[in-house]
Amino acid sequence: MKSWGKEIWDRKQAEQGSLGVIAGTVETKSFFDRQTEKEFNIIEKGVLPLLNKNARILDAGVGPFARFSMEFAKRGYLVTGIDIATRILEIAKKRVDKSGYKVKLLEDDLTNIKKVKEKQDLVFCFGTFGHIPSFLSLTVLKEFNKVLKKGGYAYVHFWINREKRIGNLLHDFIYGIGHYIKIKIGRGYKVNSSFYTEDEIKEMVRLGGFEIVKKNSRGIYLLRKY
Ligand SMILES: C[S@@+](CC[C@H](N)C(=O)[O-])C[C@H]1O[C@@H](n2cnc3c(N)ncnc32)[C@H](O)[C@@H]1O
Repeated sequence: MKSWGKEIWDRKQAEQGSLGVIAGTVETKSFFDRQTEKEFNIIEKGVLPLLNKNARILDAGVGPFARFSMEFAKRGYLVTGIDIATRILEIAKKRVDKSGYKVKLLEDDLTNIKKVKEKQDLVFCFGTFGHIPSFLSLTVLKEFNKVLKKGGYAYVHFWINREKRIGNLLHDFIYGIGHYIKIKIGRGYKVNSSFYTEDEIKEMVRLGGFEIVKKNSRGIYLLRKY
């Protein structure tokens, strides 16, 4: 099985459930709830003021919890969530329906977005870009550019290839052991992870037709289409 694409994500959902899809091996649901809250505080202050009240937002790689889509929808934005995996979308739909918020969910591939017809004001991509194999990452940025209005924004979480501190080494070690055990007992998958240096991101962003508005040390970049 390939380390990217529809098959691996559908199987992860079937065998590891929603938490397995977004958390991998070591993190817990409460870790992710805190992460959603923290991330959304940043978005609320730094991104939403740039958008109109009825802006269109595309959640690229929406995931089974549709957690960010629902936060955007709660605030009245017109939200579309896309994902490559049918099973993940089924689970996301149940959660969205239960919440009562309006999120349009579509099965689509970030490397070739076909079903998003209306131009978007913001493409939001958290926890997903790093799972795109590096030979396709520029293609994905160009697809984001394609679905955006001129002057539209992309909020992209890149995974940064940087020198490791002791805390990161420890995290990677524990993660690696957990992952090894999961693969050995037949419940783990080797999903692609792509890390980039800041120079590589800068160049990729330029080639993708974007300028960098701001970025932070966690690899979150706010880009503007030019
Ligand atoms: C780690 S999860 C993150 C989900 C969500 N953004 C979150 O933070 O909760 C990655 C998601 O990206 C989706 N995905 C991976 N490759 C994709 C692609 N080429 N096109 C669309 N979705 C993709 C997976 O199916 C999965 O739901």
